[in-house]
Amino acid sequence: MLHTTHCNHKGSFPMLTHYPELTLDKWARKYGSLYSVRLGNQLFAIVSSPGIAKDLMITQGAIFSNRKEMFIKSQIVFAGRGITATPYNDRWRKHRRIATTWLNQQAVDSYSNVLDFEATDMLHALYTDSQNGRHINPQTYAGRCSLNNMLTITFGFRTDSIHHPMVTEALRLSRAFMNCTGPMSNLVDFLPILQWLPSPLKSKAKALHRDLVETYGGLINEIDGRMKDGEQVPDCLAKTMLDIKDEENLDHVDMAILASAFMIGGVETTASIMQWFTALIPAYPDVQKRAQEELDRVVGRGRLPTLADEVKLPYCHAIIKEVERCHNPFWLGTPHTASSDFVYEGKLIPKDTVVVLNTWSMHHSEDRWERPLEFNPDRYFTDTTLSSTSANLADPYERDHWMFGAGRRICPGMLVAEREIWLAISRMLWAFDMVQIPEKPIDLKEYDGMSGRSPVPFDVRLEPRFEGVGEVLEREMREMRGWKGWGLTKL
Ligand code: HEM
Repeated sequence: MLHTTHCNHKGSFPMLTHYPELTLDKWARKYGSLYSVRLGNQLFAIVSSPGIAKDLMITQGAIFSNRKEMFIKSQIVFAGRGITATPYNDRWRKHRRIATTWLNQQAVDSYSNVLDFEATDMLHALYTDSQNGRHINPQTYAGRCSLNNMLTITFGFRTDSIHHPMVTEALRLSRAFMNCTGPMSNLVDFLPILQWLPSPLKSKAKALHRDLVETYGGLINEIDGRMKDGEQVPDCLAKTMLDIKDEENLDHVDMAILASAFMIGGVETTASIMQWFTALIPAYPDVQKRAQEELDRVVGRGRLPTLADEVKLPYCHAIIKEVERCHNPFWLGTPHTASSDFVYEGKLIPKDTVVVLNTWSMHHSEDRWERPLEFNPDRYFTDTTLSSTSANLADPYERDHWMFGAGRRICPGMLVAEREIWLAISRMLWAFDMVQIPEKPIDLKEYDGMSGRSPVPFDVRLEPRFEGVGEVLEREMREMRGWKGWGLTKL
């Protein structure tokens, strides 16, 4: 048996509702890189080292790729459908296969011009709205950029301003999801007796399920109607699902929840990294200066950095990896469960144990990182890999970070996420000096969503780095607007 902490659920639960990663880190220092915790009727194994993560979640992937059907998240919000919360079975394989047709290399290559356009559009809006030294909170801009990317991929349309009602609604749904689901935060997930009782959390989860099906299922219905009317709708996940629904046996809720997995999994996450970048970087003018010297040398001032430039901009690339190491939006990932008993180095991990990847400890290990609490992009200067490539390295101690999870359930959205983040951050560095406002110090405290974290609201000043910034942005926007490839339509 693993070493189990001596806290019963009464003792350990309050310590695991807010910032649970800090408690798990403290216990990892005391009990080692693999220990267990019991909450209610559930045993958890906490994995805090890259070696054990690889041995269990990757090498023994046939055993450690299951998911617990969490009461709130899997049973109520997702109604047992979708991809993220489905156990390791044929339904999951089918949904993952369908999702991948829109997230694999070839698919991402086909719509990278959309990602390119949305990043430029965000920069243009930031530039326009921050003129004359106006203070600006970049969070909504990052949120809309990520949202437009996912809306285009999932439903074939985009919003044209941060005031579009879909911006508010989609961000509200993602936030509601983050607030009522968490890997270890809801006692009701682990004490079946509570599941029979009415509770505000249960009502919120039911309302969220209804809203997801109404909002995203409603968009699918609308596309279905247009297809039936013979209209040529843009290629997107919804269209693919409608085309294959009979042969793949997908019902309306399946499609609505698979679309929700994109809208929830793909919006707050990438936006959160862009937001952490904008919250952190004003405190590091030297880092900005060095990145900008690199950009001036490689890209110049006459055009924006592109995807192709990434390999030639190792310092900008390193900044992104370091933001991700310091501010993983999901410190405890999405836990896996063991589908059978497994003995690891003489310790029994019983069937149905929930296995939590404690990435906070892994990202802050003193064995790997000198002064791990400091933000220091130099750590990654010589690591030119993409995270999606780094995840496949044979030596898990060489992997850049564990933000996207591990093994067969690893985030299938890595490729698109990395491109979105690169385009947004390299362009912000290219265009602006990001400056703290003395009377509004930026609080780097994490917004305490239960499953995902972003910074608490803040303002910055964006100073265009040189005269021609606006002109380049205007020109690139004009050129992109002239591009008709996607024929994005109304809604
Ligand atoms: C910075 C951005 C992102 C982060 C940090 C992130 C993180 C994660 C993590 C930790 C998991 C669980 C992995 C595991 O079980 O080991 C996951 C799964 C998933 N992610 Fe992402 N993600 C991001 C972006 C995206 C994007 C852009 C999409 C696009 C649709 C996406 C879709 C999904 C889906 C569908 C799953 C469920 C996979 C499964 O259970 O098989 N994610 N993500």
